[in-house]
Amino acid sequence: MLKLDRVSKYFKTGTFGGDLLPAVKQVSFEIGSGEVVSLIGESGSGKSTLGKMILRLIDISSGSIYFEGRDISGIKGRALRDYYRKVQGVFQDPFSSYNPIFRADRVLEMLRKNYFADLSDADWNRKVYSSLEAVGLNPADVLNKFTHQLSGGQLQRILIARALLMDIRLLVADEIISMLDASTRVDVLNLLAQLKAKGLGVLFITHDLSLGNYISEKAVILRRGVVLEMGATEKIFGNPQHSYTRSLLAAVPQLHKKWEVMGDEEKAEVASAHRSPEGAAALARGNGGGQSRTGVAEARQSPHLPWARRSRHGDHVLVEEEAERKAKRDTYLRTHEPVPELVMVEEDHWVALEAAA
Ligand SMILES: Nc1ncnc2c1ncn2[C@@H]1O[C@H](COP(=O)(O)OP(=O)(O)OP(=O)(O)O)[C@@H](O)[C@H]1O
Ligand SMILES: [Mg+2]
Repeated sequence: MLKLDRVSKYFKTGTFGGDLLPAVKQVSFEIGSGEVVSLIGESGSGKSTLGKMILRLIDISSGSIYFEGRDISGIKGRALRDYYRKVQGVFQDPFSSYNPIFRADRVLEMLRKNYFADLSDADWNRKVYSSLEAVGLNPADVLNKFTHQLSGGQLQRILIARALLMDIRLLVADEIISMLDASTRVDVLNLLAQLKAKGLGVLFITHDLSLGNYISEKAVILRRGVVLEMGATEKIFGNPQHSYTRSLLAAVPQLHKKWEVMGDEEKAEVASAHRSPEGAAALARGNGGGQSRTGVAEARQSPHLPWARRSRHGDHVLVEEEAERKAKRDTYLRTHEPVPELVMVEEDHWVALEAAA
């Protein structure tokens, strides 16, 4: 249904846009109908960038995206509008998708103007009711309410209902449950499972491996914009081939075993994975911490010089300068990192060749 063929995205960066940051490099995979594909990777690995390209919210630098056989990379106007009838996205923070001064169901009304202008009020209401019911909401509970009167889970479901109003074939779900509490998470996951049973394809973007494992039949492991491993979820999780996938799995001990039943050697292995940059990043994300990309958060902690912080040598470093240096280095590394070739391990399991040490 959806096919990505060597899709890349280069962002212009630097003060004058002189540098190019390769956020996604030559990514290829497919999503069939009724199939959930997890796109897993740490913060900044390019997951949302891929999702946004599929949703045509940003341009594709190179490569092609085919939907039902048609290249959608350059479609515009009416063709793009028709594409959105079949492909929709839901994003991480449900609150940011709503304007607090309007009632929450305004997000549904806005679709009506664009796509269902000739529907009668009665037909429209029927449609709204059935899509809200399809996501397990009681329409009477949520219609005519303001955002602050609804829970995060309800708001997220309204956004999924909005996507369903369109009779979509593919849902791009970008970290849609990270912000929800544990019990609501399970509900939204179960909802996705029901939709999948009805033939909906889902790209499930997450930095959380256990969620990816729970819901999907295929998984794509992304790091620094590059696919390192992909294939059937049980093969990736059961028999990880790439050292990066292994380090991610080692950083999620509860996935395999409870900590208490581990031997000392295993504990040491897990602990060292936590100390590796990737393992630590995965952990930080898992704990909801996340790394500060700009250094702004660190700067706020400095009481005297809000725009600076103390370096290891005691002098004050301008946070912006430092952030720019970091970004430059990151850009350099990403640009010069070769895109590894994917080789087939067994049916439905591919791994990137690791550079010989
Ligand atoms: N509009 C933009 N302009 C310049 N760089 C960008 C832009 N959007 C994203 N990037 C960069 O592209 C890279 C990939 O970002 P992306 O948002 O896709 O990561 P992600 O995997 O979704 O991370 P997270 O888990 O934090 O959401 C990052 O280095 C990011 O800083
Ligand atoms: Mg993201």
